[in-house]
Amino acid sequence: MQTQIENLSPEEARRRVDEYLQGQSELDLLRFITCGSVDDGKSTLIGRMLYEAQLVFDDQVTALKNDSKRQGTQGGDIDFALLVDGLAAEREQGITIDVAYRFFGTEHRKFIVADTPGHEQYTRNMVTGASTADVAVILVDASQGILTQTRRHSFLTSLLGIPHVVLAINKMDLVDYDEATFHKITEQYNEFAKQLTFKSITPIALSALKGDNVIQRSTKMPWYQGPTLLGFLETVEVGRLNSEHGFRFPVQWVNRPNAEFRGFSGAVAAGSIAKGDAVKIMPGGQEAAVEDIVLFKDSLDHALPGQSVTLTLDREVDVSRGDVIVAANDVCDVSDQFDTSLVWMEADNGYVGRSYWLMLGATRINATLTEIRYKYNVNSLEQLPTRSLGLNDIGRVSLSVDQPIPYESYAQCASMGSFILMDRYSHATVAAGMINFGLRRAQNLYPQDHSVNTQARSQLMGHKGKVFWLTGLSGSGKSTVANAFEKALQAQGVHSYILDGDNIRTGLNKDLGFTEADRVENIRRTAEVAKLMKDAGLVVITAFISPFRSERDMARSLFDDDEFIEVFLDVSLETAEGRDPKGLYRKARQGELPHFTGIDSPYEAPETAELILDTDALSVEQCVDKLMALT
Ligand code: ADX
Repeated sequence: MQTQIENLSPEEARRRVDEYLQGQSELDLLRFITCGSVDDGKSTLIGRMLYEAQLVFDDQVTALKNDSKRQGTQGGDIDFALLVDGLAAEREQGITIDVAYRFFGTEHRKFIVADTPGHEQYTRNMVTGASTADVAVILVDASQGILTQTRRHSFLTSLLGIPHVVLAINKMDLVDYDEATFHKITEQYNEFAKQLTFKSITPIALSALKGDNVIQRSTKMPWYQGPTLLGFLETVEVGRLNSEHGFRFPVQWVNRPNAEFRGFSGAVAAGSIAKGDAVKIMPGGQEAAVEDIVLFKDSLDHALPGQSVTLTLDREVDVSRGDVIVAANDVCDVSDQFDTSLVWMEADNGYVGRSYWLMLGATRINATLTEIRYKYNVNSLEQLPTRSLGLNDIGRVSLSVDQPIPYESYAQCASMGSFILMDRYSHATVAAGMINFGLRRAQNLYPQDHSVNTQARSQLMGHKGKVFWLTGLSGSGKSTVANAFEKALQAQGVHSYILDGDNIRTGLNKDLGFTEADRVENIRRTAEVAKLMKDAGLVVITAFISPFRSERDMARSLFDDDEFIEVFLDVSLETAEGRDPKGLYRKARQGELPHFTGIDSPYEAPETAELILDTDALSVEQCVDKLMALT
């Protein structure tokens, strides 16, 4: 029997997998993933396996035979790729997982295969589909040998902690079932994989198309003594989920159907729990005991890893979605800074200083890249210094999040140590990550509350500290308007300070240029300085192009709602270029000034500015009047 789950939300997919698991004995279950490109024959291989093991429903076979006649690439033969490809609509949809899970079984074992589409940009699916797999079947086309993609997938497989690899050397028919080719590819692979952490690598000589060594032992390769693919998958020894680990239960939702019942629903991520056990709620650390473990209408005595249940506690404690219920005597760590491995999945690069939403289980929190330590050359696994991560890069990155969150290292507990980063505007998944460890640098810091606080200072000043964040093209009038605005403030006895890009860049930000990475850092530092000045009670006026929405929003996030006023100096490029007070547009047009905003570097206009000043039309005085109205 086989079932598929496709294109479901991660939660729904997880729930369906959980459901399947609960109906199965863990002992018989093997989870594996297949990786390789479409051309490597992945779909054909899976199709062949399902078909030969007679795991395909009869009506599907009929449809397949008809389809193969109509559009198959194999003459009158059955085109197994159709079976799988027909099911794998490769849609890009926010955080929808494009992994097709297929459940099937033989006499010896049950299987879940996460079929991950093969193109380079689908690395994401591999990461999302693979975190609990026992085996990775890595396909290689015998006529092509080991490719960069083979190495990338293998490296990811190793990062994900998948212990066993099948090196499925496919299309042996294309190389006349040549033994030397098989050995050459195997040797080349083993040399590369020395640097990785697999428990076993099993090379198998196959032809998915002809059916050699998939299920039936091949008669064409008498020299091959190893197992068939299904034979291997049926017998490979796999570790069981670790129920020795301390209990970990990330709360997916608070279940409150009526006034009497309040339960916390989720899946056991690690360890086990029994009625009466003492627990703590992280990150807060409040204590309670488990009163009941509910599964549908039943009450269970205990729950094991992978089980989805609802827990009730013996007392009223504050528990919300994203909290983790843990064993009281073995709590998990909490941190707001992490060393992580990131797989970048977006065409837009990742830079230090840029923030995203981090989704870890049911938690969604703001996260900022604080350091890109290096990225890997996936062919040599060499560590390369870099200032950004691009599409398909795998890197070692430090992240900070807005508040301490409970976590585990990925190696300890995959579900509490893996996360995705999402773009806050488009909601696209930009990266998948694994926590290597929490950084202690923040844990030994104790921010002090001083007796003279913001409130006391603003009383002395006679006004509140605020930030007017001026943004716009070069030549839009930021410095001019800032200057006139400050004079007007001064006249009213308001204490103020202008942070101007051209000035700050000669001191604090002297080391920064105009690449995207440097501009992100320029704004990050400026926003932090503006925050300190605001705390000191000043009205701060910043005059930076600040071309990216993401950093302006990051700046905004440092302040209370009424403290941050985004002011967009909206001017047409023609007007700005016509003004050209510093002659920079002319230089840029002549190609003497690369990355010039508006010419060959983008400006993202604000969508939610508190004030828009059309400096094409308004005089400086009119702009100042509008600004003064907001003080
Ligand atoms: S930002 O993009 O990082 O916010 P910032 O406001 O600090 O820029 O600096 C912009 C000023 O730097 C401009 O007013 C201009 O005088 C100068 N400048 C030099 N090179 C560039 C460039 N490539 N793009 C924009 N401004 C530049």
